[in-house]
Amino acid sequence: ARAPVRVLVTGAAGQIGYALVPMIARGIMLGPDQPIILHMLDIEPAAEALKGVQMELIDAAFPLLKGVVATTDVVEACKRVNVAVMVGGFPCKEGMMRKDVLPKNVPIYRAHASALAEHAAPNCKVLVVTNPANTNAVIFKEFARSIPEKNITCLTRLDHNRTLSQIAERLNVHNSDVKNVIVWGNHSSTQYPDASHATITTTSGEKSARELIADQHWLHNEFITTVQQRGDVILKVRKLSSALSAASAACDHIRDWLHGTPKGTWVSMGVCSDGSYGIQPGLFYSFPVTCENEEWSIVQGLEIDEFSRLKMDATAQELIEEKSFAYSFINQE
Ligand code: NAI
Repeated sequence: ARAPVRVLVTGAAGQIGYALVPMIARGIMLGPDQPIILHMLDIEPAAEALKGVQMELIDAAFPLLKGVVATTDVVEACKRVNVAVMVGGFPCKEGMMRKDVLPKNVPIYRAHASALAEHAAPNCKVLVVTNPANTNAVIFKEFARSIPEKNITCLTRLDHNRTLSQIAERLNVHNSDVKNVIVWGNHSSTQYPDASHATITTTSGEKSARELIADQHWLHNEFITTVQQRGDVILKVRKLSSALSAASAACDHIRDWLHGTPKGTWVSMGVCSDGSYGIQPGLFYSFPVTCENEEWSIVQGLEIDEFSRLKMDATAQELIEEKSFAYSFINQE
């Protein structure tokens, strides 16, 4: 039998946590043959609720779930974990700006990053979900110097999946017939959903999305804004931010990272830029990546037209500003 993998979910008593932990325990993240030990961290005010989640996990009698650690102790939560999904933190409520939550998340990310750097299993893979996700990943990296930057990523897969779905809906095909969309940049309203390299599997072979969607105006306008604003729309109607789709995207992200992307297919992940596509090194920026042997690599050599260049630079600019704003707090720590 395989050794269990220890998966940490911070903020596990929150709404994404509640959707995510059963998915992990059912094998959606790491596959149907992989036993799991779930580590769940939350804070004192949520301790009772966290206990409740633990009880429900027990009641669900998941065959793959070999143990549950539910705690408010950061060190206990981080011990020997192989995968860390960072969902905990101060949430961005309706009417709040991303700028308002960043200062609140710096000390939280400092504590979690330091504990993981010291206590996690070697080669622990980290996925930052808490907003502002890209910049929290910068903060994480700063406080977890012993964790290689290759092992730190942030979630833009929800945006990627939204992009796939918008293209599929437009063409009246299933989302599984659409591949190689890209979300570039920040997980924010400046993100650039890009279908210019996307392809569609049709009964008469692979076709480019550009060829099938003759309406350039739609691709350059409504398509982009629909994806960019989808989170806000959901927040308005649900009075809560996206949770089940975020949890599902987190599973997709980790699964593809560890098990590899299908041949000829890429996905979007927020990773530390190495300067690819002219993006400032050190920014956590969403790129198209392929994964193999538990490592991601940025897809190289895609042609970038003028329209894309402007959009990619605008979202990079926002990240540069967020990063320097973050450092004004990091330097106070
Ligand atoms: P939530 O407020 O329901 O849950 C957050 C949980 O974190 C709460 O249980 C809270 O007690 C806990 N928490 C707060 N401080 C903590 C600390 N120091 N240590 C451990 N836990 C702590 O929020 P929700 O809806 O689950 O969202 C979580 C985060 O994910 C938010 O920042 C949200 O903006 C972000 N998000 C990111 C997405 C992405 O695509 N990157 C998509 C959707 C949400």
